[in-house]
Amino acid sequence: MNAPFAATALDKLRADLARPTELFIDGAFVPAASGETFEVVDPATGQVFAHSAAGAKEDIGRAVKAARAAFEGPWSKVTPAGRARLLIALAELIERDGEAIALTETLDNGMPYMMAKFAAVVGASEQLRYNAGWATKITGETVAPSAPGEWHAFTLREPVGVVGAIVPWNFPFVMAVAKIAPALAAGCTVILKPAEQTPLSAVHLAKLIAEAGFPAGVVNVVTGFGETAGAAIVEHDDVDKVSFTGSTQVGKHIVRVATGNLKRVTLELGGKSPVLIFPDADLAKAIPAAAMGIFGNAGQVCAAGSRLFVHDKVYDQVVEGVQGMARGLKVGPGLDPATQMGPLVSEEQLARVMGYVESGAGEGASVAVGGARVAGEGYFVEPTVLTGTAAGMKVVEEEIFGPVLSVMRFGDEDLDSLAAKANATTYGLSSRIWTRDISTALRMAKRMKAGGVLVNGGAGVDPALPLGGFKQSGWGRENGRMGVEAYTEVKSVTVQL
Ligand code: NAI
Ligand code: MG
Repeated sequence: MNAPFAATALDKLRADLARPTELFIDGAFVPAASGETFEVVDPATGQVFAHSAAGAKEDIGRAVKAARAAFEGPWSKVTPAGRARLLIALAELIERDGEAIALTETLDNGMPYMMAKFAAVVGASEQLRYNAGWATKITGETVAPSAPGEWHAFTLREPVGVVGAIVPWNFPFVMAVAKIAPALAAGCTVILKPAEQTPLSAVHLAKLIAEAGFPAGVVNVVTGFGETAGAAIVEHDDVDKVSFTGSTQVGKHIVRVATGNLKRVTLELGGKSPVLIFPDADLAKAIPAAAMGIFGNAGQVCAAGSRLFVHDKVYDQVVEGVQGMARGLKVGPGLDPATQMGPLVSEEQLARVMGYVESGAGEGASVAVGGARVAGEGYFVEPTVLTGTAAGMKVVEEEIFGPVLSVMRFGDEDLDSLAAKANATTYGLSSRIWTRDISTALRMAKRMKAGGVLVNGGAGVDPALPLGGFKQSGWGRENGRMGVEAYTEVKSVTVQL
């Protein structure tokens, strides 16, 4: 198979990465104040292939100052249409550089190149275009107070201010863009901190932000560790809001620390999402979707369908089908065009996922397929199917964030008892239902305690569709009108006439 990218593009990228990447603060590329850098590892090889500036408290302080000055100054003077134009210009630059961005994402995260192209380039540019549309449509309302007298009363929606955007490593580029796009549409300024495992595509984004013509300080990109750079954002008293995507554990920590100045917090956290296959489902679609819903991006997806519930009548057929797909998937480096599933992002994630597989086996689950690390230096794990799993096992209750599926069966029971099993988790991000019966589908959709319900495949992540969690999967929603409104404050103005 021919590579879907030019070899010269990869050579150029590697040459560019010979020098450590820098921070982007107040419109300029600068090293960390400490002069320190950290190593960036290619998960397909386990080798260090780049270095990035290790931003920390002092750098965050400078970035917040720049973001505040831009917020009060030049950015506040850019019209809504001007903000929209800048977002669209950024979308076009992302498309222009699509090959380099996707290659960066593949080297850094490990995902297959075509997935990187789709998620990072198409996903990110569509986020920008969608939110560019909102920039000119964020409005308040007129209101009719009941107090005696004559009134003119209305609400204003104003930008919340300086935003800290902290993103994870599983879809680094599109997650970064999905946070800055609504924030900028609303008129906020941003300090973006990518994950330490995958800092590189955010640096490319910074270059495009400079080229697009955003005023200095509107977006600042500080690479660095969670415990230093990330913590400094959350602690900073001049940051008005933190938008975080990552682990539930760090999400809870952020909530505690954010009480300092009561900053606004939105959280998009983990999941343990159920997939329910009824006996009348279109199995030709449901089986591959169930498999790729957990093996896609090696299971490193917040909404991954990690608990599969199958009706007795179709259990054998579905489980054999999913197992067949697990055995047949081509696992390899993301740069190999034949690869369908890449490595896990890091040695730490590899150890975490292998620990869960062992714990499942220890608690009585059967490893029906996979369960082993793939020999070599990269962080590859076989697509894994666990059967004989049951409520109470760690592999059924905790987010694994790897290509590990727990399969359970159900019989002819009422929908309430089935929903209770599907909802028996502290998470509530997503759920998937496969049935041809419209009534079963919609009755189950009402019963699911989750921010998303995908019937017969549903739609993937879309900038127009609210995304977020019930329960410990998060606070607030990203995307859609709610996503942009989450970067605003409402002000009531009343005039006594
Ligand atoms: P993490 O939550 O530690 O990292 C996510 C982001 O938070 C990174 O940018 C990190 O630098 C930052 N961060 C870490 N500690 C921080 C702190 N004290 N203050 C501010 N920012 C901080 O996630 P990690 O450790 O990489 O992965 C652990 C587990 O989290 C995964 O196995 C998975 O279960 C879950 N996860 C969920 C994601 C999602 O999409 N919802 C994404 C990544 C991880
Ligand atoms: Mg962590």
